[in-house]
Amino acid sequence: MAAVFLDCGAMTESSESRNTRTASYLAEPGEVRRVLLLYSGGLDTSVMLKWIQDEYSAEVVALTVNLGQPGEDYGVVKDKATRLGAVAAEVVDAREEFARDFIAPAIKANAIYGLGYPLFTALGRPLIAKLAVEHARRHGCDTIAHGCTGKGNDQVRIEATVATLAPELKVIAPVRGWQMGREEEIAYAREHGIPIKGGAEQTPYSIDDNLWGRSSEGRWIEELDHAPEDDVFQLVTRPEDAPDESETIALGFERGLPVSLNGERLGLVELLERVAEIGCRHGVGIVDHIEDRIVGLKVRDIYEVPAAAIVLPAHAELERLVGTIHQNQFKSDVDRQWGYLVYAGLWWEPLRENLDAYMDAVNERVTGTIGMKLYKGSARVVTRESPNAVYDAQLATFETSGGLFSQQASPGFIELWSLQSRMAWRLRHGQGD
Ligand code: ARG
Repeated sequence: MAAVFLDCGAMTESSESRNTRTASYLAEPGEVRRVLLLYSGGLDTSVMLKWIQDEYSAEVVALTVNLGQPGEDYGVVKDKATRLGAVAAEVVDAREEFARDFIAPAIKANAIYGLGYPLFTALGRPLIAKLAVEHARRHGCDTIAHGCTGKGNDQVRIEATVATLAPELKVIAPVRGWQMGREEEIAYAREHGIPIKGGAEQTPYSIDDNLWGRSSEGRWIEELDHAPEDDVFQLVTRPEDAPDESETIALGFERGLPVSLNGERLGLVELLERVAEIGCRHGVGIVDHIEDRIVGLKVRDIYEVPAAAIVLPAHAELERLVGTIHQNQFKSDVDRQWGYLVYAGLWWEPLRENLDAYMDAVNERVTGTIGMKLYKGSARVVTRESPNAVYDAQLATFETSGGLFSQQASPGFIELWSLQSRMAWRLRHGQGD
């Protein structure tokens, strides 16, 4: 039995390096002439930029997408691509599109996967891959290359997008096949004059970030019994070091989306950046997450999601206030479906659009203001206000009876409401009392 499994494993592993295609969209060496490389400027994709030119004798067009990665210098990334031989190096600022078409629907869907991950990477990948398709076509490329490994969700998201939107384009994923470890990549970089930033000695965390959050993987994070080391938090202040004074902010929503911060109207990108900044200061949005990946593995991630940790609970609170009990019960089921679909790399699946239509319908009434109190790592709803709240303070107090609510009617309701449960109980436990 074990031998059978081993054989299968060996076959699949070598098939990609032998370039026997395991999927119709993978490129055969002979058909690769001009490659659109999704270029981050990091070690993997820099090595790849050279490696593709050597290995395939192909031209490389580098595309770098700005989704709001904090502190990135895109001029430097572009220069690096050109110096490494890219025939063209493009940087696209896609922050507005990312916020409008990807984060906004995620807010309406209260999108969280596995109880803690607000999906920032999962939301970014389909957009990055869509832009890769557009630029590949514009530059006459036949192939798209990305730097994902064979163990993650990101390869699924990117390749599913390319195969859906551009069946004529092929894909190569060199990291999946080249079997270079980090040390070999560094050696390759040295040999080919590829600059390595941040010093090669210390293995950095594997980072992915954008406007909506940041993830770190690797090193001690892979040891489940290892508590987070402080150097992993590059964004959020350690809660212990956050100010002793709390801060309460007012988030204004219109039709399900945040539109103002403390009364000041802001576009979504700027609002998210400002909320993230305040959240960072107060140590808000640290998530230590074990995740069920779509490719079967469980992996631990450390997330820093200061904006999401404030905006999502505020939105959910307001939505529950304007929804009926029945809408609210149903919504969380649909929210979970939405989050799973997007996590799983099926952004272009029609079900997602169907669900979005429902999300939009519900969010039509999600208008109002939520007060969030931030204090040493926590973000808590403290005030709510909405013209559409299905709430009547008069009805809610204990003291009064009358109007729409008669306390005298409650026992009759209880008798009918519990009828079937009482009958079933008797059938199982006999008539005795
Ligand atoms: N686990 C998260 C996800 O699957 C984050 C992945 C981060 N990606 C990366 N290439 N470091 O969406």
